[in-house]
Amino acid sequence: MSLHSSSKSLFVAAALLLASGTAFADASDAASRIELRDFCPPGFELVDGNRCELRTLYQNYESLRYAGVGGPRTGLPKVRDGFSPQQIDLGRYLFFDPLLSADNSVSCASCHHPDLGFADGRPRSRGIGGAEVKRAAPSLWNVAFLSSFFWDGRAGSLEEQMQGPLYDASEMGSNPVELLTELNASDDYRRLFRNAFPGNDDSPTLDNVYTALAAFQTTLISLNSRYDRYAHGYHDALTEDEKTGMNVFRSFVARCAECHTPPLFTNQQIAVIGVRDPEGVPFDAGAQDVTGNPGLRGGFKVPSLRNVSQTAPYMHSGTFTDLRDAAEFYTLGRGHALPDVEKERIIVHWHIWEPGLSDTELDRLVDFLQTLTDETFKPQIPDVMPSGLVPIGTLPEALASRHASSTSTSNQ
Ligand code: HEC
Ligand code: HEC
Repeated sequence: MSLHSSSKSLFVAAALLLASGTAFADASDAASRIELRDFCPPGFELVDGNRCELRTLYQNYESLRYAGVGGPRTGLPKVRDGFSPQQIDLGRYLFFDPLLSADNSVSCASCHHPDLGFADGRPRSRGIGGAEVKRAAPSLWNVAFLSSFFWDGRAGSLEEQMQGPLYDASEMGSNPVELLTELNASDDYRRLFRNAFPGNDDSPTLDNVYTALAAFQTTLISLNSRYDRYAHGYHDALTEDEKTGMNVFRSFVARCAECHTPPLFTNQQIAVIGVRDPEGVPFDAGAQDVTGNPGLRGGFKVPSLRNVSQTAPYMHSGTFTDLRDAAEFYTLGRGHALPDVEKERIIVHWHIWEPGLSDTELDRLVDFLQTLTDETFKPQIPDVMPSGLVPIGTLPEALASRHASSTSTSNQ
């Protein structure tokens, strides 16, 4: 009997070994079949020089940047485009590949997941080994239009920004040498880099890694929400309640649009609005720490509100779990949430006051914010990675629980 069961388990072990051997062979076969796309993502047109250029209806409107709030038909800030289809597609692989982290457990997508509005559903992000990061992960939709990055605006380009998470011990924990060594160890990555950066025999280089990741991120365009259809002249795209909400949003009472300026729903400035940090967490001085300017104590970059319905919890600190609470914050009085010691030294922006919005007006504001959702250009998560690793890495908690609950409902 015991002989029987042990030979059986030996057999199972051998079968497993065989199966995993085949799986490895399949994975590397599949990786060697990866070819970078030679066409642009949706919303982009391939132009001379193998460059992808953005096409949007907003390009028909003049940009009123620095000239007030503007109406719905206001142009966008300058876009970062012109990358090649191959660079964009290589960036897509890198973005989802946990190979980029020190222990191969975390990718960019672990904290910027496409199903969570390119955020992670957490009040504070978690990096390798579950380490907590100081702030919440912002969405990456429409980063192509931004001129500064991070909540406190401390990085001036996407290339500069990404070196934060890549090399921070609590985020991806890698370093430039290790990153290049790992990429060079993969025949498939070497082949794909040469394909995306023709003429550069040294590729992968760090600059090529940064360019590809930037190229991919700049294709995350969300400009075709129901609000946009309304803005372009299709008046029935919004319900009456949503239009009421839009009017509150744009009103001189609520003043939301002064900072969350259409069409991007951010004026890209730093503003002090006085959000509190969670219990037990030291006060986050935000832009003061970067600029040394005490007038910017507690100042953060005005976030775009596009796809905001997908990116709870809200604010740099993840303080508000839903949009209703985030909207209500603005009507509870200047500086109401600040700790007493901060109340005296913080200079809250003059547009933050006591607009006295009613419960109904707050509900309508939320209705309107939900019309800013458009994920039609959500990129595909690669099935097979050049590294052979499973894409994404550690699944964000919020997503893991969402998956668990959707599996349990589908089982019923
Ligand atoms: C451990 C979680 C984590 C990982 C991994 C991570 N990020 Fe982030 N990301 C964040 C957090 C948190 C912030 C905001 C930090 C701050 O403002 O101080 C951020 C900010 C950003 C921003 C700025 C957006 C804006 O509006 O200012 C970009 C762009 C970005 N990340 C891209 C990336 C890329 C590309 C990678 C992979 C190389 C990556 N992130 C990996 C958590 C993460
Ligand atoms: C003075 C400029 C200003 C005004 C006016 C303003 N906001 Fe904001 N808003 C900000 C800043 C700055 C943040 C980020 C603050 C932080 O993280 O601490 C923010 C964050 C938000 C967020 C969270 C977004 C996210 O991704 O976490 C929402 C929602 C929001 N604002 C909605 C509104 C609404 C609704 C109004 C009008 C009632 C409004 N805002 C008025 C500057 C402003």
